Amino acid sequence: MQEEKTARVSTPGNESFSSIGMDEVIDRSMEAFEKKNSALVKSSKGPDLNSWTPVEEVILDRRSTRAFKPEPLPDFMIRRILEAGRYAPSAGNSQPWKFAVVNSSEIIEAMEKDAVMVAKAFMWLLDYNRPSFFRQHILKHYTKLIIRFQKNQLHPVPFALLQEIAKGNAPVFHGAPTLILLYEDKRGVSCPATDIGICGQNMVLAAHSMGAASCWIGLIKLLMYLPKWRKFFGVKYPYRLNDLVAVGWPKFKSDGKVPREVQLVDWYEGGLNTAPRLERQGE
Ligand SMILES: Cc1cc2nc3c(=O)[nH]c(=O)nc-3n(C[C@H](O)[C@H](O)[C@H](O)COP(=O)(O)O)c2cc1C
Repeated sequence: MQEEKTARVSTPGNESFSSIGMDEVIDRSMEAFEKKNSALVKSSKGPDLNSWTPVEEVILDRRSTRAFKPEPLPDFMIRRILEAGRYAPSAGNSQPWKFAVVNSSEIIEAMEKDAVMVAKAFMWLLDYNRPSFFRQHILKHYTKLIIRFQKNQLHPVPFALLQEIAKGNAPVFHGAPTLILLYEDKRGVSCPATDIGICGQNMVLAAHSMGAASCWIGLIKLLMYLPKWRKFFGVKYPYRLNDLVAVGWPKFKSDGKVPREVQLVDWYEGGLNTAPRLERQGE
């Protein structure tokens, strides 16, 4: 699937997307947007749509930050970020979430230490790339079987990240001074994980709009293997803890944007017997 996506991204004519800066991508998208929607831009009675709205700007400009200053955001800002999450839409307005704020370097350092320990244990068990006949010829087949059943958690991206964490080359919580835990209430309507995603995204956008930095951390799951941390954070039915959002002040200004692939979008505009028109979104 990933290969298929990569292939699609590098189709001829699309190489420009990965090789140009994000500002240019945005400018070009805006140009294309204006061309396609000139009637709308001209006749709009709402906000001036000749430039991005403030909300669009925040969406396009946000980046995950992986280096934070030690001092936390003031509490009022953290509360405003929580408020953005609280106002997220959810299926049936079931609001299947609970939040906790971890604003303690003592706790976060202990979390970091234990998460690295779990990553090391996983990689000791699963890393078949390490130089050993047993690992490369025997363990490899078992590991690949486990990966097949855990394909999301052990996708090459988190697998490579876990390897780096286990080697001590990458942190788990990026030295963030504050972690906002996003507990998912399994009793939510329809698909609570979707609601959690929307809720957290509201939070990171709100943080960015205030000049703060943020990063989603799915690797909190590492700590959920340890009963000690499940107990400490009260993770038991009906809750599960798969994600958190780290917030703080950025240590450095982030590099340019991580490029996004061009999306091939079907537009169904005719009748039931008309094939959809394919549009390349993002070019
Ligand atoms: C649900 C979720 C979990 C993530 N978990 C991690 C994580 O554990 N560690 C990390 O460094 N980044 C994590 N990220 C951040 C992604 O790597 C990042 O959003 C992606 O590379 C795009 O980069 P950008 O956010 O700067 O646009 C996560 C993002 C999401 C949405």
